[in-house]
Amino acid sequence: MEVGDMAYLRNCWYAAAWSEDLQPGSLLARTLLDEPLVLFRDPAGRAVALDDMCPHRLAPLRLGRLLPDGRLQCGYHGLEFDATGQCVRNPHGSGRISRNCRVRAYPLVERHTLAWIWMGDEPPDEDLIPEFAYLDPGSGHDVGRRDTILMRANYRYVVDNLMDLSHASFLHDGLLGNAETVPAEIKVHQDGPYIHVRRDMYNVQPPLLRDLLFKRDGAAVNMWQSIRWSAPAAVLNDVGTYAPGTDREEFSGQLGCHILTPETADTTHYFTAAARQGPLGAVPDEGEEALKARIAELRRHAFKDQDDPMLTAQQENIRRHPGVSPVLLEIDIGPVRCQRALDALIAAEQQRAAEDAAP
Ligand code: FES
Ligand SMILES: [Fe+2]
Repeated sequence: MEVGDMAYLRNCWYAAAWSEDLQPGSLLARTLLDEPLVLFRDPAGRAVALDDMCPHRLAPLRLGRLLPDGRLQCGYHGLEFDATGQCVRNPHGSGRISRNCRVRAYPLVERHTLAWIWMGDEPPDEDLIPEFAYLDPGSGHDVGRRDTILMRANYRYVVDNLMDLSHASFLHDGLLGNAETVPAEIKVHQDGPYIHVRRDMYNVQPPLLRDLLFKRDGAAVNMWQSIRWSAPAAVLNDVGTYAPGTDREEFSGQLGCHILTPETADTTHYFTAAARQGPLGAVPDEGEEALKARIAELRRHAFKDQDDPMLTAQQENIRRHPGVSPVLLEIDIGPVRCQRALDALIAAEQQRAAEDAAP
């Protein structure tokens, strides 16, 4: 079986949207895990996620409108729903509302400037929301653009991509890696729900993004990439650059999130934002805001213009050759560990569901 055919892990938190993209008074239509949803804020500002389907004639609620009192009015015949998904007004006839006239509402929690959704049937557990504290206001980090990119590949191929950053030397040659960053010490370890893959590279020419964040003199550097995965697909990348022969605490680098939510089996919402870290780093000639904007553009270019076409074409080949298994290399140790951990969680979840369904 190839990964696109596998079930989703459901009893976990997926990023549904950046909090800032849920604007009061507007509807955000978004498909997650093959389910079309409509997201909005209630009058108290709480984020809400409902199935995007009216129970009357199954019209999409995204074509309706939010009323000033916070109700969502279906755009077809005007039934009104509250934030729990209950129909609370039928403007027709006697106004009677049957008990099953309701829409499924999903638990949605805002944390780390993202709205996280729970799409499983088990009770939601907020302790399972992955940690991305650097995104929090007041964290001391100056976070750049909070970007959302639609990748035209299954989310598990994006996990493989992120958890083996050796590809930066080839697919992002000059920007995030180069020929000198191919040899690297790779270390993998697990702590609790997190799997970490660390690559250290010594005395190498800095790729463009590293040079921009460091001394901007093109001199050889030592670099690390330390990337952390947790299920189902939340990734934090900690990168740093320091001068050979100096203390690695005297570094300049970046924290970046790469949080993936399946849209469908073939497409993925990719939530990403980066912040500079470390005591070093040249004061940019163009100013901090201009540098942040430039880095956000370079990151989007790497993910959308370089990773996405490769993953899309890779997915087409995998679909075309369903019986062919990949020939794995030493660099695949991180992705393999993560995919196995995810497989085990999905299998355990399916086992619990089967036991619950048993007579
Ligand atoms: S389809 Fe929504 S009110 Fe008729
Ligand atoms: Fe990449």
